[in-house]
Amino acid sequence: MANSRKDDVLAWLRDAHAMEVATTDNLERLIARADDYPRLKTAMQHHAEVSRRQKEEIEHQLKVAGSDTSTLKDATMRLAGQLEPLVSGTTADDMPKHLIAAHSWEQFEIGAYRSMLGAAEELGMTDLKSMCERFIPEEEEMAKVFFDELPQVTRKYLREHATL
Ligand SMILES: [Fe+2]
Repeated sequence: MANSRKDDVLAWLRDAHAMEVATTDNLERLIARADDYPRLKTAMQHHAEVSRRQKEEIEHQLKVAGSDTSTLKDATMRLAGQLEPLVSGTTADDMPKHLIAAHSWEQFEIGAYRSMLGAAEELGMTDLKSMCERFIPEEEEMAKVFFDELPQVTRKYLREHATL
């Protein structure tokens, strides 16, 4: 049987919740390895805070929509497990590869909220729409730092970790 339109949106919100938990986990792992990259580290610390607040806003949206939030943890565990190789599948200090993956992950988040924005418009969910409109620039800001920092981080990595 087909889901109702609202069921679809609630399922996507639960996915977004898991996505933000995974973002925070991935950022915390990267922050711990980023002492040599201070600008990057500061930006990631800021975005980890942003992501925690986004997760809470998503929980609020779910509650307002009358959704049971007690099973959120299960979905989170599943998604986080799937994401594990994205960041931890390479050697611990391979910062260029971590950043390429993190940049892709931010693009994925932007896409998720662009899609959710369309859903919110379709269902007339104005609070959800404004949430998406606020979240997208926040993800874009983090994606831009990854984009901007990738060449310099890779150069520094080569100078300090590779043999001539
Ligand atoms: Fe996010």
